[in-house]
Amino acid sequence: MNIEFDSKFSGIDREDTLRGISARRSILERARRGEIWNEKWLGWLSVREAASARALAAVRGEAARVQQRASAMIVIGIGGSNRGAMAAIQAQRGKLTSPTRIVWAGDTLSGSSLRDALDIVERESVVLNVIAKDFKTLEPGISFRMLRKALMEKYGADYAERVIATGSYGDGQLFDLAQAHASRFLEFPENIGGRFSVLSNVGLFPMAVAGVDIESLAAGAEDAEHALRSLPLEENPAARYAVNRNLLFERGFSIESLIFFEPDLLPFARWWTQLFAETEGKTPSAVFPTSFSYSEDLHAVGQYVQEGRRCIAETYLRAFHSTPDLRIEPSAGVADRFDYLDGKEFDELNRAVYRAAIRAHSADGVPCQEIVLPEIRESELGALFYFFMFSCYLSASTLGVNPFTQDGVENYKRAMQSLLREAQPASDSSGGAASPQQKARP
Ligand code: PA5
Repeated sequence: MNIEFDSKFSGIDREDTLRGISARRSILERARRGEIWNEKWLGWLSVREAASARALAAVRGEAARVQQRASAMIVIGIGGSNRGAMAAIQAQRGKLTSPTRIVWAGDTLSGSSLRDALDIVERESVVLNVIAKDFKTLEPGISFRMLRKALMEKYGADYAERVIATGSYGDGQLFDLAQAHASRFLEFPENIGGRFSVLSNVGLFPMAVAGVDIESLAAGAEDAEHALRSLPLEENPAARYAVNRNLLFERGFSIESLIFFEPDLLPFARWWTQLFAETEGKTPSAVFPTSFSYSEDLHAVGQYVQEGRRCIAETYLRAFHSTPDLRIEPSAGVADRFDYLDGKEFDELNRAVYRAAIRAHSADGVPCQEIVLPEIRESELGALFYFFMFSCYLSASTLGVNPFTQDGVENYKRAMQSLLREAQPASDSSGGAASPQQKARP
């Protein structure tokens, strides 16, 4: 496996980790073997199953078809349905040469965002990829309706050829719709939930259309699977990471921030946040996941990390793009006080701020763990996706929560349904909710 985990700046020493593993051994062992939680959720554990040679070939074929006919593919999805693909596509942005760019929709109810997507349908040659495990969520559902209508108006009866549904079989699900309207269909595997779906058709298809090398991504993930499912717990980086983050929680570090130094990794950090938050956020004993983009956030939350309350642990992604041809030019007569940098590779600066942030923060008692990637290629990304999904499954299992449900999310959905079903007077712009001031008025 081409990624490493290093905790030497975390304040957790090897003995602590070993004790933590030993206290959780039987759960971790069972989870490592894939014996915890119903197998109906565990399709992602085997990369060969989720991203089989057959699935990869089908995805490739469908992607080539899209690339021949569209300059933009609008991906409609939310949560686990779109964040994995977003992460990989943005991380590989610099080298993608596909004729088809990806546009994201269906993860907001902002009319202005929908208008942007509708404008793209009007101006460009477009296909839609609508993704839903359970086609009941309002955000993607209503966006699909609006965009489908625009497609019908533009392309007439041929519009269905330009819709690829990634969904489930069953009543009222996308398969039904795809059948009824003769659109194209990719299966959202039944035994994989949204946030564990990046290595299935769900994530791989948009990646392939964008030009990501999905075969290398799957190969990297498979390498990680072999290592993480066979290494003994004591030497297993996913188990050590899962245990350490919970030991840090017990020491008062209830927040974990994923730190990255390439802005292109922001969507990856958002994928990671969603994975851990929706998987573990069902008990007060779960770590709260967030992310910071350094250097930028060193000039914002960095102050709090350095001198604020000791509740934030940092997990650094040592992962950099490489621009060896970019050297610092002499300033040509302007005394800007940066002459000591003349002639250096620009990349040295980003590596220096990485080391400086860890040095400054860990010196003040902030636990800093590192995940090290030699490069940001597809193979490393595949390994990293697998590493985090596997460690999240281990970590959630030790907390005793079901990693694969998200019942809490239903509450806002129910509240929104009842608001939207109530008859609202046209002039009421409050959305039906009384403000505290309104409530207090006689
Ligand atoms: O990770 C998850 O399971 C969720 O975030 C879902 O992906 C999200 O709620 C979207 O669900 P669906 O694909 O059913 O619309």
